[in-house]
Amino acid sequence: MKILIVGAGGQLGRALIDAGAGHDLLPLTSSELDITELGQVRKVTAAHCPEAIINCAAWTDVDRAEAEPLAAFRVNSLGPRNLALAAAGLGIPLLHVSSDYVFDGSGERPLHEYDTPNPLSAYGHSKLAGELAIAGIHPLHYIVRTSWLYHVDPPTRRNFPRVMISLADREMVHVVSDQFGSPTYAPHLADAILGLLATEAYGVWHLAGRGLTSWHGLTTRLYQNLGITTPVIAVPSSRFPRPAPRPRFSPLTTIQSPQIILPSWEDGIDQFCRDIVHSPNN
Ligand SMILES: NC(=O)c1ccc[n+]([C@@H]2O[C@H](COP(=O)([O-])OP(=O)(O)OC[C@H]3O[C@@H](n4cnc5c(N)ncnc54)[C@H](OP(=O)(O)O)[C@@H]3O)[C@@H](O)[C@H]2O)c1
Repeated sequence: MKILIVGAGGQLGRALIDAGAGHDLLPLTSSELDITELGQVRKVTAAHCPEAIINCAAWTDVDRAEAEPLAAFRVNSLGPRNLALAAAGLGIPLLHVSSDYVFDGSGERPLHEYDTPNPLSAYGHSKLAGELAIAGIHPLHYIVRTSWLYHVDPPTRRNFPRVMISLADREMVHVVSDQFGSPTYAPHLADAILGLLATEAYGVWHLAGRGLTSWHGLTTRLYQNLGITTPVIAVPSSRFPRPAPRPRFSPLTTIQSPQIILPSWEDGIDQFCRDIVHSPNN
């Protein structure tokens, strides 16, 4: 399948490029295609004659979105709307990636595709607006919600595991233990997304690492794997006030059909540790 990947320089974009060996991939970074410019989106997508578009482009700085909501809405809402218009014009599917932050996380069980979103933050609102824009324009869409995404690539990306590794030379690290989610290793998500594209089962999908943990649980497993002995101290989120509110409990589960289940979050972090040790950029 000839697939155009936009936002190809980020974590998921890089993972898709590695996973897509059997496909004809056309990866475009932000300097090659700015999804906020409708004319450019229409022109560039038409020029490549793809059979599907995957949107990995996003404004992912959750805290900065509180201070700059319009900038976040331009990338996370207007951008997907532009891609939906272009995909509709070409008559091809659009696979768009969204977030667990569309939920408020006030419940007690993992969230499925038919639960009702209620974002807490500007970032969450912008991601939900992007979902709604696509759904209102183009029926051939897959909206894939994922959560707590991380990868070894690009090495400059300060994701949560990399930050925790950078803090390991401290006497101890304090990590939030009262927020729960489904950590997702980008290569696992990339495999699932490429599988999903073959189904023509359009709609909303929850694709995230199976199971759930806290940031503290994730750090503990990360350090164990890497042989880091720095004590990991559990603290409440009130210890680290942030500009953007986070959902307290936003693990994702799926009740969609056909079933697409990712490896567990434990498998994900174990694989990340093996990959980061062998990565030439570390
Ligand atoms: N990271 C997470 O924890 C997480 C959790 C849940 C859901 N998600 C979602 O998963 C998806 C992939 O996330 P990720 O972690 O791979 O993101 P990422 O590493 O931050 O990459 C996002 C990419 O989007 C590009 N981009 C930004 N503005 C653009 C524009 N106007 N036009 C074209 N490209 C643009 C960025 O390019 P530049 O770097 O050049 O600006 C960057 O390469 C996103 O939809 C995100 O919302 C992520």
